[in-house]
Amino acid sequence: MTATASTASTASMDVLFELFDGLPRQGPGSNAATRRAWDLLGAVPPRPTVLDIGCGSGMQTLELARLMGDGRIIAMDIHQPYLDILHRRATAERLDGIIETVNCSMDAMTFAPGTFDVIWSEGAIYLIGFEQGLAIGQRLLKPGGYLVVSEITWFTAAPSPELVQFWHDEQIDIRTEEENVQRIDRAGYQCLAHFRLPQEAWWDDFYLLLEQKIAPLPRKYRDDPERLAVVNNQQREIDLYRAYAHQYGYVFYMMQRQVS
Ligand SMILES: C[S@@+](CC[C@H](N)C(=O)[O-])C[C@H]1O[C@@H](n2cnc3c(N)ncnc32)[C@H](O)[C@@H]1O
Repeated sequence: MTATASTASTASMDVLFELFDGLPRQGPGSNAATRRAWDLLGAVPPRPTVLDIGCGSGMQTLELARLMGDGRIIAMDIHQPYLDILHRRATAERLDGIIETVNCSMDAMTFAPGTFDVIWSEGAIYLIGFEQGLAIGQRLLKPGGYLVVSEITWFTAAPSPELVQFWHDEQIDIRTEEENVQRIDRAGYQCLAHFRLPQEAWWDDFYLLLEQKIAPLPRKYRDDPERLAVVNNQQREIDLYRAYAHQYGYVFYMMQRQVS
């Protein structure tokens, strides 16, 4: 998980981008999960207009474009190198007619109200806050439009204190599935479905590769306490998941904006 740009120093952001650059994705997920979430939506209109918030290098954006076949996806992120990779991948697959990359922060979007049929965000809405993400959907979705987010979620009402402390220190507000469904209802959506991301979707395209990138860095940054702390913290995040994957994980929430 990356820290918010507003709370992390330049050195911390540099080392985070060093860790995440070159990975197939920048958070837990899989094409199978993206497909499953898409299939759980009702009738998406033909040639939909889609916004992918915090797309990273766009593994899920490309899968959405393959599923749609036609339409338009605005893939948005604040890290230009990720957008460049996505653009290259989209061009190679001839999906560049569907995918447009936009460098913009999720808290500075100026799209007209009611622009999108679908808003998608895998592992990124936590950066602005779940409820703030729901509010963005209410503003930018057409009535009846769909919001899909994957959000880190407790699977137990009593998570281990060391987990609670770690995520508190990361300034990430984690709730249970029940609490998130209540927040979805209160924000004016129908929660169509939700499902847990399987553990292999944390490991296969993300944590196992991230661990390989982490391995040489403690030595590289042994005289740089700030960067070393970021590297060690990232390894600790992975170690905690290895120990406590039954207590938390990502959950996909599929929602529909109420018509009135
Ligand atoms: C955990 S990654 C998830 C990336 C991608 N959705 C995935 O699942 O692989 C979070 C992404 O949000 C981006 N990001 C961070 N702050 C952002 C902001 N304020 N606005 C838009 N994107 C942001 C990061 O650059 C990163 O690509």
